[in-house]
Amino acid sequence: MSNRKQIVGFVIGLMAVASMAPATEAADYEYDPYNAEDIMELCAGCHGEYGQGGGDGEYPRLAGLPVKYLEDQLRAYIKGERQGLVMVTYANEREMPDADVRDISRYMAEIELPSKMPVIDQNLDSLEKLLIASKVFNVPRLEGDTVLGGQIYNKQCKKCHGKEGAGRGKFPQLAGQFSDYIRLQIEDFRSGKRINKQMDKYLVGLTDEDIDNLLAYLSVVDD
Ligand code: HEC
Ligand code: HEC
Repeated sequence: MSNRKQIVGFVIGLMAVASMAPATEAADYEYDPYNAEDIMELCAGCHGEYGQGGGDGEYPRLAGLPVKYLEDQLRAYIKGERQGLVMVTYANEREMPDADVRDISRYMAEIELPSKMPVIDQNLDSLEKLLIASKVFNVPRLEGDTVLGGQIYNKQCKKCHGKEGAGRGKFPQLAGQFSDYIRLQIEDFRSGKRINKQMDKYLVGLTDEDIDNLLAYLSVVDD
């Protein structure tokens, strides 16, 4: 019966796909935090000591982004699918084997940067207090209508980027990311410099004012 043949063909197809997977999913991979710390020294020069980014968003924040998203981006730079003149120096096949991609992604993803000053135990010495304060990270509030921005966000972005821009899995968090960096990425998606088929249709039709309002909303949503 031809139906049966189709099913067998389908299963064989699936097996072929599965056997290609181990290239990135090495079974013997084990997280090596010391290796991650070594790699971090390279990244910190631009992305900051705590992965908080810098240069008003010239260097994006990486701390706390979903691990899957970070891995995807590094692999995209390595394969040349995402252009980034600066990043390609660091993320290429010679410099970055896949175990390094996984180590540094997990390390960055696990860094927590509070958006508000936590209550500080007064028994701590001043150096410890300073360290806590230096990890507080908040994007400056941007001009724009945060209510309208929130409406656009909830209608067109939330189903992937999560409630209040928190991100998860392969969807980056947008809250707590530099506004200028997000603006540039939106421009790059719209001009086709950065490619993401899933998202394209949600960005068409947004006016400059919509984008200002969206960014204003994202700049305050985690305050
Ligand atoms: C010389 C500066 C510089 C260094 C060092 C650097 N980066 Fe970057 N990185 C950038 C810039 C600039 C971008 C932003 C945009 C682009 O070019 O794609 C970026 C973007 C990224 C992104 C994408 C973030 C996002 O939200 O999509 C990741 C992930 C990343 N870098 C990881 C790393 C890691 C890991 C290291 C260390 C191995 C590193 N970078 C070292 C400059 C740097
Ligand atoms: C259907 C799911 C989906 C929707 C809806 C969506 N996005 Fe995304 N977005 C993604 C994915 C997936 C990525 C990661 C792309 C990649 O891997 O390069 C992304 C990446 C981004 C980035 C890059 C962030 C970074 O750190 O570099 C920005 C900015 C962004 N989206 C903004 C938006 C905005 C604004 C909206 C609503 C107008 C939106 N997205 C709607 C799926 C979506």
